[in-house]
Amino acid sequence: MRAWMLDGPGATLRLAEAAEPELRPDGVLLEVLAAHVPAYTDVVTQAGPRGGVPTPLVLGVGGIARVLAVGADVFGFAVGDVVAHVGLLGSDDVVAPEEFLTGWTGIGGRGVRTPTIAAMQDRWRDGTFAERVLVPADALVRLPGATGAPREALLGWFAIAAEALDRAGLEAGHEVAVLGATGQLGTAGVHLALARGASRVVAVGRNPAQLERLAAIDARVRPVPLADREPTTAAIGEVDVVLDALGPVPSADPTLAGLDAVRPGGAMVLVGGVRQDLAIPYGVLMRRRLRLVGSWMFRRETLLRVWRQAAAGVLDLSSPAVEVVGLDDPAGALDLAARTGGSGFVVLVPARAS
Ligand SMILES: NC(=O)c1ccc[n+]([C@@H]2O[C@H](COP(=O)([O-])OP(=O)(O)OC[C@H]3O[C@@H](n4cnc5c(N)ncnc54)[C@H](OP(=O)(O)O)[C@@H]3O)[C@@H](O)[C@H]2O)c1
Repeated sequence: MRAWMLDGPGATLRLAEAAEPELRPDGVLLEVLAAHVPAYTDVVTQAGPRGGVPTPLVLGVGGIARVLAVGADVFGFAVGDVVAHVGLLGSDDVVAPEEFLTGWTGIGGRGVRTPTIAAMQDRWRDGTFAERVLVPADALVRLPGATGAPREALLGWFAIAAEALDRAGLEAGHEVAVLGATGQLGTAGVHLALARGASRVVAVGRNPAQLERLAAIDARVRPVPLADREPTTAAIGEVDVVLDALGPVPSADPTLAGLDAVRPGGAMVLVGGVRQDLAIPYGVLMRRRLRLVGSWMFRRETLLRVWRQAAAGVLDLSSPAVEVVGLDDPAGALDLAARTGGSGFVVLVPARAS
């Protein structure tokens, strides 16, 4: 089968003829219909602060797929089902659970590649930038009514933002600020906050064109250009929830500008890719009774809820632009994904002839 293969850290992602995945009793064999190519995919192929991936491997996290065959020890899935692959796999031990992203970089918890993680990575190595993939049933969500349309591949990114908003305790009527709203995760956060009945959504970011697009979605969205810490806080005003979806910014100031804007009793959730230390005055957190929480990936139930919101028309998945690519030109697709950023999502449709 055809797949995007990563031969080693820093290698160029290449189109390869890969071995057909073979059904095992504990697995589900999938035909990949659509997989989101995240904006920073090129960074993932390089060795760096995100940690290495076991190579060679077929890259690709999450996606929408059709079930081709079901292992004998798997129950509840049938051939032909359209499912979402969540990408996150956990160990079976409840006492000290461990988790990692299959086909991608990312280890949960303390981020350490323990022998358990290494064994799981070896067993369930390959990702979804391929025509077919074998995955454990634990990583799948059946999507009633889904067709496998490219836009459905956005569900994973929306579920990441939805989980973060859950962890912050977002409620209808809350005022929300999204840092990095011009990125893909931030864009998803803005849409979700609106769908959940936020009374005001402050979209904070760099890219003026994307800020304008966000403001056009709904009268509740107020764009705020990212500036220095104090003016940014002042422009946001007080909010109940801050969602930090920033990428790797060179300073902690944008995040701290968000924290300064949280009203007493409110919450800030860190879900982005900021790799800075935060100096947080103890008294500020204590007196304002703030909650500062982190969020990584999502529970399967969260993705299902997002799907039901989209299917019911409560959540507008049709508004972000989607650029579809085929398997033929991985370098071109990664470049397009990096250039597109929050203004659109690049989705790989393996069956598409370029
Ligand atoms: N917690 C999780 O489970 C999880 C899951 C997936 C991803 N992530 C992380 O979330 C981050 C965002 O993902 P994404 O898909 O939204 O990426 P993205 O589309 O590339 O968005 C990155 C955002 O950060 C902003 N940004 C980047 N560099 C900046 C700088 N120097 N100054 C100011 N703003 C800057 C971008 O602004 P512009 O639009 O102006 O470029 C954009 O708003 C990633 O870094 C990723 O590591 C976390």
